[in-house]
Amino acid sequence: MKTTNAGGTVIDEPKSREAVKPAVHKATAAKRATKPSQIYVDGKFYAEGEAKVSVFDHGLLYGDGIFEGIRFYNGRVFRLEEHLERLWDSARSILLEIPMSQRAMTEALLETIRQNDLREGYIRLIVTRGVGNLGLNPEQCKTPSVIIITAQIALYPETVYRNGLSVVTCATRRTNPSALNPAVKSLNYLNNVMARIEANLAKADEALMLNDEGNVAECTADNVFIVKRGQIFTPPITAGALRGITRSVVFEIAAETGIKVSETDITRHDVFIADECFLTGTAAEIIPVVKADGRPIGTGKPGPITARMVARFREMTRETGTPIYS
Ligand SMILES: Cc1ncc(COP(=O)(O)O)c(C=O)c1O
Repeated sequence: MKTTNAGGTVIDEPKSREAVKPAVHKATAAKRATKPSQIYVDGKFYAEGEAKVSVFDHGLLYGDGIFEGIRFYNGRVFRLEEHLERLWDSARSILLEIPMSQRAMTEALLETIRQNDLREGYIRLIVTRGVGNLGLNPEQCKTPSVIIITAQIALYPETVYRNGLSVVTCATRRTNPSALNPAVKSLNYLNNVMARIEANLAKADEALMLNDEGNVAECTADNVFIVKRGQIFTPPITAGALRGITRSVVFEIAAETGIKVSETDITRHDVFIADECFLTGTAAEIIPVVKADGRPIGTGKPGPITARMVARFREMTRETGTPIYS
């Protein structure tokens, strides 16, 4: 497998594919552990210690940019098209022009995984506004930067999927959509970071974030679902939730299994009296919640509908997706 240093291999548009020596995926775990991760920055691969952005990039100075977190399982990228659609939607919303086509982005992303010889993992795809001056006017930034990082990930240990996690309602409200719409997956996550700090201080696994009306919006990096009398409920996007890709998979699984899902306003009280609760996110996948603000949810153990969702989701992640190595 080709190792590239700073300024090494170049890939951008699909035609440049020939410029890249295709990576193979037979490296041993030991070889992987010693080899620095290869990171894509604006068409080139850099060893992780060499991958850098300018201190004048507005992504750093102002959180002006967008991102996606994407998973790949069993040699396939899960829901890649949906993630790219959402990235392009975020870009349109903040008037940022992604400097490549969706097809070229797909190829850059797949090649980054190949360069890192991985079959299972997580991708962080970032588009920053690019280099400008210290003023915040984005017109100063002529060329957005594209960064692709791969990593191996296990957000929670398997025991948490079996036993469930705890959430605490935080005082930090989810950003009001009229200030900064949470539907834009922007690099400005300070709102979520503040909520995460509250969860840490309360020794809870996650923070339940409410909107200005006091209804549940989402958690710091996950959508929220509750189950009551065999039906599933989740807050609408207008409550201040990201249009989660995993959230949409839950809708699909529910349709497959004949379980009704309603998008409806949910209060803390609804969470307290739910039979089951679970969170969804690319990193966390589908994960049961068994305690909210000190109250056990349902039996205090993950419920049967959640278990069914987790099992079917795992099947889908192993069997579907964009092939990386074919
Ligand atoms: C704030 C927020 N909500 C929800 C989600 C879940 O979305 P998805 O399932 O697309 O990862 C994420 C993660 O991307 C997130 O950052």
